[in-house]
Parts: sequence; structure tokens; C-alpha cells
Amino acid sequence: MNNNLRPVGIIGTGKYVPEKILTNSDLEKIVETNDEWIVSRTGIKERHIASDNQATSDLAYEAAVKALDSAGLSASDLDLIIVATITPDMSFPSTACILQDRLGAKKAAAFDLSAACSGFVYGLATATNFLQTGMYNNALVIGADCLSRITDYTDRNTCVLFGDGAGAVVLGEVPEGRGFQSFDLGAEGAGGAHLYLEAGGSRMPASAETVEGKKHYIYMNGREVFKFAVRVMSSATEAVLSKAGITKEDIDVFVPHQANIRIIQSAMERLNLPAERVVVNVDKYANTSAASVPLALVEAVEDGRLKEGDTVVMVGFGGGLTWGASVLKW
Ligand code: ACO
Repeated sequence: MNNNLRPVGIIGTGKYVPEKILTNSDLEKIVETNDEWIVSRTGIKERHIASDNQATSDLAYEAAVKALDSAGLSASDLDLIIVATITPDMSFPSTACILQDRLGAKKAAAFDLSAACSGFVYGLATATNFLQTGMYNNALVIGADCLSRITDYTDRNTCVLFGDGAGAVVLGEVPEGRGFQSFDLGAEGAGGAHLYLEAGGSRMPASAETVEGKKHYIYMNGREVFKFAVRVMSSATEAVLSKAGITKEDIDVFVPHQANIRIIQSAMERLNLPAERVVVNVDKYANTSAASVPLALVEAVEDGRLKEGDTVVMVGFGGGLTWGASVLKW
């Protein structure tokens, strides 16, 4: 990164998952599946599901309050709020604006960012650029999703895979040599047809037919997304390491998108990473889309796994198709 820019890193973290837990044995009662299949094919044992009166901004709010508290800042210190989500409370206003009002972050600019499971890393890169140039001082970046709202609980191919949650970080200036060292963001729009939600936008507005046709739920070609994921997890990591001028041996903590344990294991093999350096919580939360990377990061902070000076690599991939990776000196 340009050396004239000021160093920016994470100065506060918080996470939130809804109380309700949906286990594999609960799902066995809803669709034809079983714990053995789900655990062996995905590594998932349970997931948290938002209550009927919780929307994405409610999850984001809980995580944001904790992140501000851990940064020792108040909402009035925020200049920017970015919420990465594919399940906003509504089409507009943005979930970030709803959150800005609820937090009382009166001077903060606020917008949502749509990059599916890569959204949090895209959000980190976006906010970092605003802060490095000096345009803003403090930014709140949140990955939050209520995938349960767009999941078809009669489709065993997808309903076992997803959960709800939110992870938040506050970005600010950090000492020289610390903070974000590099980012690698990318997209392969041609792969968009492998993972999408068809209706409710301007191409196919909501109608009785779209509801009847179950077009407000996630469609996923699991095998194609799997192949893409395995490929970009290692290529994005290699790209971001090279931009930071370091090698995979320098990684202390690897925080991958938590979609499937087999994708994570394949990245570990390709990158030659021992298990103790890799954060895994897909068993507890399943795939929470934009919340997945920050939930894993914040859990590593709370567990004391992440220590000052550690080199952290985060990698997300998902709908778009998109990917995002970063190197961060903690
Ligand atoms: N329980 C039991 N059997 C099942 C279930 C289930 N829940 N789901 C599928 N099966 C069956 C299928 O019907 C199929 O049966 P068939 O061979 O008789 O047709 C069989 O299991 C095997 O299916 P595969 O598709 O070969 O299973 P695969 O090993 O590919 O695993 C999975 C499927 C878990 C979806 C995998 O492909 C995957 O993880 N893909 C990536 C998903 C991902 O990373 N998404 C991230 C983005 S999500 C986002 O952006 C919101």
C-alpha cells in the first residue's frame, strides 16, 4: 500500500447471534436429511436463527454496540457506517441508515454494500480507503445477514447450510506498521447464475406468481460454487500475501469464510496451513454470508487467539460471484 497513507486497522470488535438454535436433528424433522450427511458434507452441527421480530439491523445493532464499547468510542465519533448484507431490512432505506438512526451516529455517512459472503472484506477495503486518505477518522463496518429469511425450509439442498448473525468492527488509525497491509477484491460476474435470489428486484418484481414459484429464496448450484470457492480461497490468499510482500509461512491466523469445512480444509492443504492457525466455527453458526468472516474474526479475538502483532489473513467468497481477501497486522 502507498506509504504516504496513514495506517488503519481494527480498534474495536463485537458479534451477535440470535438466541434460537436450529440443530441438525431439528432439520431431520423438517426435510429428509440426517446429522451424519450434514456433518460429513459440510461440518455444520447447528445454526442460529433470528426470532420473528428480529431483522438484519437488529442483529447489526447488537454487534455494533459491542464493537463501539470495545473501541472506547461512542456513536457520535463515527464518520462512516457500512453494512455488508444481502438481506437488508427492506430495499430502502439502507440497513446502514436504519442502524445510523438507532445508534444515534448523527454525523456518519451510511450505506449498504452488496457482495454476499465477500461483503465484509469488501466493506473493510472500502472503509480503509476512506480512512487512509484522511477523509474520515472512524468507521463502523458490519457484516450482517438473516439468511433464514431467504431460505426455503422445504429444500434440503440449501436449508441445512445457512444461519443468521452479525459481526462488527470499528476501524481507526493504528500505530505505524500495524493495520491493513493489502487487499485483493474480485468478481466473476459470469458465475452469477450459480448463486442468486431471482425475484423482488426490478427484473422480476414480487408478485403472487413469484411467491408461488418460490423465487424469493436462495438458488445455489452447490458443486459449481464449491469449485469456485476452492480455487479462489487459495488464489486470493496468494494474491493478497504477494501484495503485502509476505509469504504463507507468515500467516499467524487465517480467517476463512465459513461455508463448508471441506472448502476450508482444501484451502489449508493448498496453502499448507496447520489447523491451529485456522479459525473454524462453521459447526456452530453454519454459513451466515456477510457475517461469517467477522463472526470468526471476533471469536478469535474473544478467545485470546489473536495477539498483538499477529498477521491475520481474512478471505471471503460468495454470490456475484465475488471474493475478497485482506492481510492485517493486528
Ligand atoms: N441431506 C441429505 N442428502 C442431501 C442433502 C441433505 N441436506 N442435500 C443434498 N443431498 C443429496 C443430494 O440430493 C444428492 O443426492 P443424489 O446424488 O441422489 O442426487 C447427494 O446428496 C449429493 O449431492 P452433492 O451436490 O453431490 O453434494 P456435495 O458433496 O456437492 O455437497 C454442498 C453439497 C454441501 C452444497 C456443497 O456442494 C457445497 O458446500 N457447496 C458450496 C456452497 C457454498 O460454499 N456456498 C457459499 C456461498 S452461499 C452465499 O453466498 C449466500
